[in-house]
Amino acid sequence: MSESITIALTKGRILKETLPLLARAGIEPLDDISKSRKLVFETTADGVRLVVIRGTDVPTYVRHGAADVGVVGKDVLLEHGAEGLYEPLDLGIARCRLMTAGPVGWQQDGARIRVATKFVNIARDYFARKGVHADVIKLYGAMELAPMMDLADLILDIVDTGNTLRANGMEPLEEVASVSSRLIVNKAAMRSRCAGIQSLVDSLAAAVEAA
Ligand code: ADP
Ligand code: PRP
Ligand code: MG
Repeated sequence: MSESITIALTKGRILKETLPLLARAGIEPLDDISKSRKLVFETTADGVRLVVIRGTDVPTYVRHGAADVGVVGKDVLLEHGAEGLYEPLDLGIARCRLMTAGPVGWQQDGARIRVATKFVNIARDYFARKGVHADVIKLYGAMELAPMMDLADLILDIVDTGNTLRANGMEPLEEVASVSSRLIVNKAAMRSRCAGIQSLVDSLAAAVEAA
């Protein structure tokens, strides 16, 4: 690849599943990311570097062109909005679901419900479409605690095995979206450096296919 490409990666569980895909596409960090305090990593692929950041920051870096390409959960993408971004590839990793959930046996009794979530835009949109009056309460983690403490009636959160819900006396209610990690691309970069980015998308698509 002749032009340089910066890829923004979501740290945490997505990173662990992304690295094998990148390796299959011929892109391997020169340092061990898990043992390093660095945030920028050169790779075995000429001109390709990685930045490792929080998922919620990945769409921001890519949208502003600070990174050309990113890997991020569909949940984060739905919450952030897709303006300025292409989403050319489903990487099929970190699969889970966005769901509403409530205490076991919960039934609505008033006109309004209180919903605790870190996905406030998704929640407002979802309940508005259903014609349900929802007061959405922003939290940054441990959503399952909110109904127990009577901070909220329901939560909207990530569900995978359902273990976290069960351990806290809750059950899943409705699926809001199915989630996996996506490759996103800055729209302007896609136009101006089409060849380099398209070849990256193609090799990652082949890596996903082979996985
Ligand atoms: P955070 O610290 O932001 O919770 P995580 O590494 O837990 O970071 O989650 C990052 C992304 O991984 C989420 O945006 C979502 O797409 C996906 N994810 C989160 N929880 C799960 C899970 N239990 N199983 C599978 N994927 C998950
Ligand atoms: C995520 C998510 C749920 C849980 C769902 O938490 O926020 O709490 O996974 O997975 P399950 O259905 O398999 O239990 P995570 O493990 O990422 O912890 P966190 O609070 O540190 O984000
Ligand atoms: Mg988490």
